[in-house]
Amino acid sequence: MARMPVTPAPSRPHLQPIGTTGAPFRPVLDASELPEGAMRRVTLGELDVLIAHTPAGIVATDDRCPHMSAPLSIGELEGCVVACPLHEGRFDLCTGDTVQMPTTGGLGPDGTYFPTWSPAGKDPKVDPPGKKAEARRLTQVQRLRYYPVRISGDSIEIAVP
Ligand code: FES
Repeated sequence: MARMPVTPAPSRPHLQPIGTTGAPFRPVLDASELPEGAMRRVTLGELDVLIAHTPAGIVATDDRCPHMSAPLSIGELEGCVVACPLHEGRFDLCTGDTVQMPTTGGLGPDGTYFPTWSPAGKDPKVDPPGKKAEARRLTQVQRLRYYPVRISGDSIEIAVP
């Protein structure tokens, strides 16, 4: 059976990291190594990038949770939504939106406050007041940022600064 062609997810210029417009593309992975539903971390210098094969196509974003920087590449990908290995945060790789705020609560991208919460079946977690609680309350979960992606032959290429 013929393999479906691999395509980049639609670009979102307003969510590109600074310095990526006009940056050179670099090969990072063979498309044959990344079946739909798979994720990989690639490291370019000091930059860890998550390459994910979603139903919308190939996405490249920072391999850092937009909450507290955990590697999303070791989370779980279901459709477009990746579940962070820490704090139960869930993020839509196809839109950049937060699907589920982390258990620690915090601020959404527009500054809306979300309280702490406990997963179903677990005892409510007490969040003693103090600097750590304040830091959690003030931690803002930004929208994901996307590196431009192109496919050249079997090669996935991304533009990084
Ligand atoms: S680091 Fe990902 S949800 Fe907290």
